[in-house]
Amino acid sequence: MLAVRHCYMGSPARSRVPRAAGSLFRVTKMSRRRRIYEGKAKVLFEGPEPGTLIQYFKDDATAFNNQKHGIITGKGVLNNRISEYLMVRLEEMGIPTHFVRRLNMREQLVRQVEIIPVEVVVRNVAAGSFAKRFDVAEGTALPRSIVEYYYKSDKLGDPMVTEEHITAFGWASPQDLDDMFNLALRINDYLSGLFLGAGIRLVDFKVEFGRYYTDDDVRIVLADEISPDSCRLWDIKTNEIMDKDRFRRDMGGVEEAYQEVARRLGILPESASRETKKPKLTA
Ligand SMILES: Nc1ncnc2c1ncn2[C@@H]1O[C@H](COP(=O)(O)OP(=O)(O)OP(=O)(O)O)[C@@H](O)[C@H]1O
Ligand SMILES: [Mg+2]
Repeated sequence: MLAVRHCYMGSPARSRVPRAAGSLFRVTKMSRRRRIYEGKAKVLFEGPEPGTLIQYFKDDATAFNNQKHGIITGKGVLNNRISEYLMVRLEEMGIPTHFVRRLNMREQLVRQVEIIPVEVVVRNVAAGSFAKRFDVAEGTALPRSIVEYYYKSDKLGDPMVTEEHITAFGWASPQDLDDMFNLALRINDYLSGLFLGAGIRLVDFKVEFGRYYTDDDVRIVLADEISPDSCRLWDIKTNEIMDKDRFRRDMGGVEEAYQEVARRLGILPESASRETKKPKLTA
């Protein structure tokens, strides 16, 4: 049996985090707190209340299973804000998420969950590894949205897996998987429309889910982040790439592309031009 690697978080405390977070959650950047995990794009700190974590968004970017490293100036600030925006919109649509509130430019308070070590990918248009695997031209619209699963393992290079592997190895139960599948498709429907309204095609995206324990219940919630690091986003008219592929393919203009996504979502003021060096975020 393969060990579940994502046990560094320990068991999430079985306490419910109040939705309207008050002063209890006011945490300053300077306060001392325990660093729980440092990943490639984010750092997790212990939150101010049991059952909470603080996600700190870094400017670090990696690709091709960690073989390529770089810094995208301002990425952490933009991803923190973009992910907040999308998680809040999804919550409004009835999708449960780990998001509690943004704390500052680079940090957000989230509910601690037991991460299910499976990345769920939803694809609407052929791109990246999918286009290569099936020898389909990039940009080909798929007959319907396709859901794929990848086992979260840097050591193994995040291999694609089937529902059989996931349930046989106990990474998720059939019920968990059913919830993840349905949530992923609902997220896709909603985000496709939201991005379309911003003149952006949602080509594909990756999400992570976790188990959130309350006193008498456990439920599957959307965790981690949704940002141009985890989505493929193309301009609807020109097909210009507005996501991490710009970094993977050394195309340049990475920060500007992330800024443009934020601007179109209404997070950056209209006046912020693509030339703006430092992202100016609205409250
Ligand atoms: N609410 C949450 N509770 C617990 N862990 C979380 C939560 N949201 C995200 N995580 C985990 O926090 C980490 C975020 O850091 P980052 O995205 O930098 O990791 P990573 O380098 O991509 O590594 P990994 O392969 O573990 O995802 C991820 O491991 C993610 O699964
Ligand atoms: Mg990650």
